[in-house]
Amino acid sequence: MIPKVIKKDIYWTGFIDWDRRLFDSLIPTPNGTTYNSYLIKGSEKTMLIDTSDFGKENDLLNAIEITGVKKIDYVVSNHAEQDHSGSLPKILKKYPDAKIVTNAKCKELIESFLLIPEERFIVISDNQEISLGNKTVQFIIAPWVHWPDTMFSYLKEDKILFSCDFLGSHFATSSLYVPDEREIYLSAKRYYAEIMMPFRSMIRKYLERIGKLDIDIIAPSHGPLYDKPSFIIEAYKDWSSDTVKNQVVIPYVSMHGSTKIMVDYLSETLSNMGVEVKLFNLEIADAGDLLMSLVDAATIVVGAPTMLVGPHPLAYYATYLVNAVRPKTKFVSIVGSFGWGGNAVEILKGMITNIKVELIEPVYIKGYPKEIDFISLDNLANEIVKKHREIGV
Ligand code: FEO
Repeated sequence: MIPKVIKKDIYWTGFIDWDRRLFDSLIPTPNGTTYNSYLIKGSEKTMLIDTSDFGKENDLLNAIEITGVKKIDYVVSNHAEQDHSGSLPKILKKYPDAKIVTNAKCKELIESFLLIPEERFIVISDNQEISLGNKTVQFIIAPWVHWPDTMFSYLKEDKILFSCDFLGSHFATSSLYVPDEREIYLSAKRYYAEIMMPFRSMIRKYLERIGKLDIDIIAPSHGPLYDKPSFIIEAYKDWSSDTVKNQVVIPYVSMHGSTKIMVDYLSETLSNMGVEVKLFNLEIADAGDLLMSLVDAATIVVGAPTMLVGPHPLAYYATYLVNAVRPKTKFVSIVGSFGWGGNAVEILKGMITNIKVELIEPVYIKGYPKEIDFISLDNLANEIVKKHREIGV
């Protein structure tokens, strides 16, 4: 990759991964991604901020070489996850005097993931600074803005915040800065839902903290940089707030059609009552789209038939995901149908332990939906609308 100049003596030395379609063997990345690393040439010292994924070592080494840098003094590791640290061993080999600058937790993880010896580390604490001569880098330790080791690096003189995974997007682009805010908004929202949403309270805390910094450019670890930082800061404030929208998300699966009839009926009824409904057929749904829909929704209704003694595995999986990403959703319910038994409702209810939600009485029926069941679905829709009104959405 050819490095890109951000400001004089500050370079993007990242890798654009146009082809990546899955992260963590789980999360779809339909727009690819980038692994951003940055090189800062100070008047006395040179610093690399983060490296790249496994297998991208030579690209990073080439990019550094093109900048003309012959010696690296510091390699900052803002986060130990391998998409940013995977190239560390080769960088350390090529630059034998370079030290990894990171916090104690990140050091522990890097040692364990990459078997890097202790003497290669400099451990810094929150707010500590390192001088590169004419440039100063300050470190902000921000645990649980995704991982326990997360930190940000702030280049004071140039007002650049290297924000780690925070505020990023899985979006491959040859543009250094956000090319189209509408496109990046959706990509960043998807990324927020998949990676950041479980940590809303910490996110709010660190939004406040970086709000005290004078920032011209936000340089995250994935996706394009923000030369208008307020765009992504305001989006994160909205997403991480407690405010929900008049939306119902219905992830569902149906084996023989009964659950689908119930879901469609409920969806139409809610829609006629002015509620925005987002349906996800779990046989074909993209997990990222589903998670993104959870960012704002006031209510989730899981549509799950019984399979053997419990909920259909796809509904089980979706409920597990919902519980894991901890959306700000206020209400949950369940609809579905069973044939000869099982305990699907109780199992699903028992899975939602991480989120503070009120359970609205499920509608779980035997066999094909009958007139009385549609009345129950009407009641469920009425209850959802009533609850939404009570919280002002
Ligand atoms: Fe992009 Fe948490 O690594």
